[in-house]
Amino acid sequence: MTFPTHVRLIEVGPRDGLQNEAQPISVADKVQLVNALTDAGLGYIEVGSFVSPKWVPQMAGSAEVFAQIQHKPGVVYGALTPNMRGFEDAVAAGVKEVAVFAAASEAFSQRNINCSISESLERFVPIMESARQHGISVRGYVSCVLGCPYEGQVSAQQVAAVAKELYAMGCYEVSLGDTIGTGTPSATRAMFEAVGAYVPRDKLAGHFHDTYGQAMVNIYASLLEGINVFDSSVAGLGGCPYAKGASGNVATEDVLYMLNGIGIETGVDMDKLLLAGQHICSVLGRVTGSRVAKARQC
Ligand code: HMG
Ligand code: MG
Repeated sequence: MTFPTHVRLIEVGPRDGLQNEAQPISVADKVQLVNALTDAGLGYIEVGSFVSPKWVPQMAGSAEVFAQIQHKPGVVYGALTPNMRGFEDAVAAGVKEVAVFAAASEAFSQRNINCSISESLERFVPIMESARQHGISVRGYVSCVLGCPYEGQVSAQQVAAVAKELYAMGCYEVSLGDTIGTGTPSATRAMFEAVGAYVPRDKLAGHFHDTYGQAMVNIYASLLEGINVFDSSVAGLGGCPYAKGASGNVATEDVLYMLNGIGIETGVDMDKLLLAGQHICSVLGRVTGSRVAKARQC
């Protein structure tokens, strides 16, 4: 097995990382975080969500954040859009790339976006159409690919079926989310094998939450499966409001450390990334979730 020479890191800290925070975070602090991540060399930063503020209050200021961040040419600043209303708000805020999000489990779909899996996929069709007209690229997410907080086991075939639909409707990449972090390396490989039968592997990404401490090894297993795009969150911030107990995404610093060790290029500067993580942790008054950041502070 040969490793890829380059991995694309999708920084989801400002969105997945902050969406679950109970304390208010100012627009200025969010802008500072996005700018610091840009400065660290991340090529894709998920800045926020255009979702109902009643459902996810922390993402309410996303339009203001988009208006105030420094847009570095070549960097993609993305946002989640669950429905047409969210998509239109994102377009009005000048967003150039969005993500739609479905689930591989019916119960999670209901809790997260208040509709069934098939209803969610139907909702995405007009978004895809409008995105094409506006020249906006759409990324797709599938949640609960290695387990569901409500249904337990999720079959790899079910994951494959949803991923296939998202790809067929025009998502240029489908990110497969271990929302509750229960996956292990062999399950990860089996899941990518099943999905890879329908969606080319270079159109798939891994999105691992680290709840059970498996995220790093699952990323390694994914690399062995030919996956070379990973979502991660600076300082390991995050969790999903509709997956109780879900801890943060794998820390970007830790993924970067491993990729640097293997000799895989990312374009991300470790020192600047550590500074971005340190700053947001001091804003939030919390200890970093990154092992590398902890080690470097010693
Ligand atoms: P709903 O209540 O079914 O929507 O919510 P509705 O169409 O019946 O509308 C109800 C109210 O919400 C109305 O307002 C709408 O205008 C408003 P009212 O008349 O009551 O004042 N509304 C909106 N407001 C702002 N933005 C919108 C919007 N749409 C309707 N886009 C909805 C459906 C999808 C909106 C809701 O369920 C929602 O916002 N859910 C939030 C889901 C979410 O953000 N989850 C976390 C992100 S997903 C995740 O973390 C997983 C991921 O990381 C991958 C992984 O880890 O697995 C991606
Ligand atoms: Mg997530």
